[in-house]
Amino acid sequence: MIITIDGPAGSGKSTAARNLATRLGIAFLDTGATYRAVTLKALETGIDLADEDALCEVARNCDVSFEPAPQGLRVLLEGRDVSTEIRTSRVSEMSRYAAASPKVREVLVNLQRRLGAELGSFVTEGRDQGTVVFPQANLKVYLDADPAVRARRRHAELAAAGYKDSYESVLSAIADRDARDRGRAVGPLSKPKDAVVIDTSNMEIQQVEEMLVQLAEALR
Ligand code: C5P
Repeated sequence: MIITIDGPAGSGKSTAARNLATRLGIAFLDTGATYRAVTLKALETGIDLADEDALCEVARNCDVSFEPAPQGLRVLLEGRDVSTEIRTSRVSEMSRYAAASPKVREVLVNLQRRLGAELGSFVTEGRDQGTVVFPQANLKVYLDADPAVRARRRHAELAAAGYKDSYESVLSAIADRDARDRGRAVGPLSKPKDAVVIDTSNMEIQQVEEMLVQLAEALR
């Protein structure tokens, strides 16, 4: 079974996808982490991220893998646990270069399909999972929420992790990312035609999770 969950930053995708996978007893694939891991490697290597060929070379030679962990997934870059490092605001901001590059996307879409084939049944989340990467999915979900609500959620997550970003800076970063995610030529964020669309602005994460479990159970 393949379930795709796409949507903008802060729509609740990650938590919902992770919890849904656990409830169904199938794997979870966090595709944003592949863009983040390539970005971290590029920053560490010291290349100019705007140099598409250099960034693509990093992506091609980057060994990204996932391991199940108590809180979801451990993200490994060349075997090193980078689960926390890839979530910094700097990596979030700089990941726009990898996301905007058609060449890097091609490498990462292939990686995601390979990982999916190994996993068999899984819940995957990102921006283009239902539209580009797994168009054959059994269930496609698109989660949305008001930008202000999404910024509040992201701000709380960052604060809980010890980061001191202001709410205003998180809101403005979300608006920038939305514009870039929706505007890019390849793999833009868009609602798959055959997706179930859920607006999570006024929902608790548990409610979202229950809805998703019901939708998935109906497939079995
Ligand atoms: O979802 P997350 O915030 O972890 O995504 C990190 C970066 O990767 C963002 O810039 C997002 O636009 C990009 N991304 C993407 N396609 C995906 C998943 C994430 O372009 N399938």
